[in-house]
Order: sequence, then C-alpha cells, then structure tokens
Amino acid sequence: MKYDFDREINRKGTNSVKWEFIKRRDGLLYREEPDDSSLGARLLPMWVADMDFPCPEPIVDALVARAQHRLFGYTAPTDSYYNAIVNWMKKRHGWEIEPEWICTTPGVVPALNMLVKTYISPGDKVLIQTPVYYPFNKAVENGDGVLITNPLIYENGCYCMDFADLEQKTKDPQVKMAILCSPHNPVGRVWTRDELLRFGEICLKNNVLVVSDEIHGDLILEGYVFTPFAGISESFAQSSITCTAPSKTFNLAGLKTSNITIANEQLRARFKKTLGRTALGGVGAFGIVALEAAYNHGEEWLSQVLDYIMGNLRYLEKYIAEHLPQIKVVPLEGTYLAWLDCRSLGLGSKELERMMLEEARVYLDEGYIFGIEGEGFERVNLACPRSVLVEALERIRNVLERP
Ligand SMILES: Cc1ncc(COP(=O)(O)O)c(C=O)c1O
Repeated sequence: MKYDFDREINRKGTNSVKWEFIKRRDGLLYREEPDDSSLGARLLPMWVADMDFPCPEPIVDALVARAQHRLFGYTAPTDSYYNAIVNWMKKRHGWEIEPEWICTTPGVVPALNMLVKTYISPGDKVLIQTPVYYPFNKAVENGDGVLITNPLIYENGCYCMDFADLEQKTKDPQVKMAILCSPHNPVGRVWTRDELLRFGEICLKNNVLVVSDEIHGDLILEGYVFTPFAGISESFAQSSITCTAPSKTFNLAGLKTSNITIANEQLRARFKKTLGRTALGGVGAFGIVALEAAYNHGEEWLSQVLDYIMGNLRYLEKYIAEHLPQIKVVPLEGTYLAWLDCRSLGLGSKELERMMLEEARVYLDEGYIFGIEGEGFERVNLACPRSVLVEALERIRNVLERP
C-alpha cells in the first residue's frame, strides 16, 4: 500500500514528549497550551528522535487485535519474537545471530546504564566519540565510570574517527569500554566496514569491550550500507555487545522494547545477572506484538518512509543552499536527524538557541548538549511532514533576514 507522510497529525493530548514537553537540564517540563502561542506562532518541535508519521498498518492491526483480546496480564516473549529479530537482522543486514544471544530490555538507554553497571568497576574509564547522543555520558556517570572522549574529526564539512587519538587513549589499561554510536547520532555518519574494522581492532588489541548502539541501524539513506559491528568477525562478536530496537525504525519508542545481543556466553551471563538484580529485563505485551509485526511485515513502509526522509533532506539542502548559505548541512548518511553547522552565523550557543526557540519558534536539539564539539550546531529532526519542514525553514529565514 502507499502511505501518506504528508498529512499533519495532531499529537497533542497523547502524552507526546516531542509535542507536549520541553527538555530541561533536570528533566522534562510539561508545556502549557497558553504559552504555546504567546509568541505568535505555534512551536514546531523538531527535536527528540521520534517521527510524526503513523507507524505501518500491520503493526497497528496487530496492536488493535491484541487490545481487543482485553486481557493484559503478564507476558513474555516466545520463539516468534526472537525469530522475528533473527530473521530481520539476517535479511536486512546479513548479520547472523542466535535467538539465545538476545536479552530484552525496556529501552536502549536503560540497557546502556545497566551495561556500564555490569562491566565497569568504579574508576574504570569508558570512551565515547563526541559529539554524541548525550545519554551516553549519563550512563557512564551513573555507573561510576570515568568518561573519556575520543572526539570525531570535523574536516571539510565531514566527520571521521580520530584513530591516532583512539590508539593512544585505549592504551590506558583503565579504559575498559567504548560506546560506539553506529550509525552516529547526531553527525549522521554510517560508519563504513573499514572504519569499524579499524575501530574494532584497536579496541580488541587493548581489551576494550565495545558496546555498539545500533538503534538507528535500519535508517540508512540511499547510497550507504550499514555494517553491524559484531557481524564483522567472530572476534568482534565475542568482544562486543549490540543494542538494537524497532523503536526508531518504526516509530515505536513509546512501547519501550529493545534487544541487547551478546554472543559471548560469559558476558551474557553477567548482563543477565544484572537484569535479574534490577528486575528490568523483559518487554510489555504491546511491545512484543509490535516488534513481531514490524520485523515480519514492516519493510514496505520502511522503504517508503526512507524515501520520504530523503525527500525532506533534499528539500532542506536546497533551501539552505539558496536562502541560508551561512548554514552548512553536514552530509546525512543515516538516521533522520540532520546536523547543521550554524557557526558562521556568529551567535553564541545560548543566543542561537534563543533565536530558534523564541524568535523562529522552532524547537531543535542544540548542538552543545552533545558535547562541546557540538557548540554552534543544531540537530533537526526530518521525520515530519514536508509542510512542517517548509514552515520551519521559512521562519528561520525570516528571522535571519530581519534587518
Ligand atoms: C543513539 C541512540 N540510542 C538510544 C536512543 C534511545 O533509546 P531508547 O528509547 O530505546 O531508550 C536514542 C534515541 O534517540 C539514540 O539516538
């Protein structure tokens, strides 16, 4: 069937974090309706990574059928759940995994927190590649690890890994874990097999456990190929942990369903112990149903949504080149999150934020939240109807062209 991604759907009144809340340092703040329009225009939320598109019909049908059963007692995933994941990874990414390797968790962020707690002793170091998805820092902090950064290199408008710095930092025996963001949020890179190979070899040589967050792994734009880190070799599989979920791919984040794949038996046993202690394993009744429908019947929708996101990206690139040449769009290879280099506007981080939020009334994720390397950048969520993107860009242009 042909899906309609152009239609704007009112998400207010659904407890939507994106549409009804504002992010504050100490948590989320409910956004009152009256404030919403006090500055003239409706606020356009293009921040947190969820889509403004309804999820595929087969998922909705499966959830409705499950709801109509009217009994919502305790549930646990069965073979059909694990097989759906195994088949998806093989079919989409050529990655062969065993059902027993999969541990369920109610989200990748809770899993990252538990993974740090499991393998890191207080004072051990955990490496991340900044600018990066900011809950990585918090997971390390919460787990009493010491955060060290291996900042990405930004050169000629593109990002790559700094292998010399990685070599040097991982020589420190205190560095026990590296959290890889693959594809990378917020810079939009889909790491090549060669880059991952180099990264992995350095970590392996220095006994650094790789936690590969591959939550965006299905959101790959035309011309790029996603390589699951653990699928590269048996030694990588044995010395890494992979986090995946259908949540970004099919817009199911509210169902809190994710999967942590661990081929290494000893590592898996340790993680399972943590899941037992925290009682945080498992997924809910609706998450199970939605995952199976998504992975078994969601491919048609996924291919259409990726085309639509690509169309939004092309629109953004063209509009910015023509009307906002001070802003540079970093090439987007994967995810639906565009990364804009706004440094030539000559505004401080706070001033840029104020301008976007209060004058343009466009709510973006500020680059600085991803690390100091992100200062002067903005992250824009392109998973929205084209009309919203058009309106946001025109608003930004109007503010910047004001005398
Ligand atoms: C890299 C990355 N990991 C994890 C998450 C969130 O995972 P979850 O909602 O499963 O906790 C996000 C959401 O944007 C993300 O970008």
